[in-house]
Amino acid sequence: MTAAASLEAMIDVHALRQQFPILAREVKGKPLVYFDNAATSQKPRLVIDALVNYYSQFNANIHRGIHSLAEEATAAYEATREAVRAFVNAASREEIVFTRGTTESINLVAYTWARQELKAGDEIIVSGMEHHSNIVPWQMLCAEKGTVLKVIPVTDNGELDMDAFRKLLSQRTKFVSVVQVSNALGTVNPVQQIIREAHAAGAKVLVDGAQSAVHLDIDVQALDADFFAFSSHKVYGPTGVGVLYGKKELLLAMPPFQGGGEMIKQVSFDGTTYADLPYKFEAGTPNIADTVAFKAAINFVNSIGKAAIRAHENDLLAYASERLKTIPGLRIIGQAKEKVSVISFVVDKVHPQDIGILLDNRGIAVRTGHHCAQPLMQRFGISGTTRASFALYNTREEIDALVSGLEKVIKMLL
Ligand code: ALA
Repeated sequence: MTAAASLEAMIDVHALRQQFPILAREVKGKPLVYFDNAATSQKPRLVIDALVNYYSQFNANIHRGIHSLAEEATAAYEATREAVRAFVNAASREEIVFTRGTTESINLVAYTWARQELKAGDEIIVSGMEHHSNIVPWQMLCAEKGTVLKVIPVTDNGELDMDAFRKLLSQRTKFVSVVQVSNALGTVNPVQQIIREAHAAGAKVLVDGAQSAVHLDIDVQALDADFFAFSSHKVYGPTGVGVLYGKKELLLAMPPFQGGGEMIKQVSFDGTTYADLPYKFEAGTPNIADTVAFKAAINFVNSIGKAAIRAHENDLLAYASERLKTIPGLRIIGQAKEKVSVISFVVDKVHPQDIGILLDNRGIAVRTGHHCAQPLMQRFGISGTTRASFALYNTREEIDALVSGLEKVIKMLL
């Protein structure tokens, strides 16, 4: 048995599926086939139970009360911070800031670090395969400050053109913000190399880990990332919780993001001093329940192990790629050497939205459209794709259902 096969054997996918209540439901009278995991993953019962347990047993506001419930809620919230620290191998829990999601994490850096540090003429580099959440905040900053946005081109295979990246780097480059895994193509980008080369040019780097954190081992210290952003809801956790990792020396020097309770040390009308890290960036009552339950999701992923998850997902990716290629007129967009389990495709003369609606009639959930990556779609000269994205609970049988569903749907539409 190969190493990959033995890891795959470690996932008992049918037993795992029992842990996800939603997978037992039907859609339009058919068993649900959920292939929209890049949009959000489904939640195991452990996570749902953690939410119910929080609200039934120790709901209270945190960092404020001295009563028992407040202490228990605070301890659980901070336990998630420690779990996240270990999950990304940050040096300290002061470097872990909770946000609403990846989008807010990126905006936080744009509104604080970048607004303070960058001036007119400074350059920010993003890639041509960014999600809108890693484009628009930088465009807004450029409009305000006169900074300049540069874009790493994408090759026909759906990889970053690293030679072009090197040519973009200069003394004017002050910031690079790049996605580790493309939500639309599944491409895994060489972020370690990007960080090394950006640092050599004197720039700081943010890694958008929204799509990578669920598939790849994340080690922010080994990467030497200055900032790393991701969301709980794509890692089997609840919606409404995100993470911003930042190097301590950077976070210390940054101004706060939002003002309010929790982020202060002392307030008077003569002036206000701010709380220590990470609370300086966590104004107001946070999303306590979902943050507490996020720890159950991290424990769930850790209990299976990313290597076993990847082995299973890679098998699904290879199987689906082969099977989809047999469909006449179907073209996979994004054929990078390094990919996670995301497949985007177009079909000649058929609109992705029609495919999505008709697949839904067969109980199959895929995402269609531009995937919040319009510049990438423009790069490939298309308006959108149909995207199937696989998670640890998906099976080859479900891929068979997708392929036979697609064959029938395409016949109906042509
Ligand atoms: N960014 C998420 C996706 O790709 C919502 O579907």
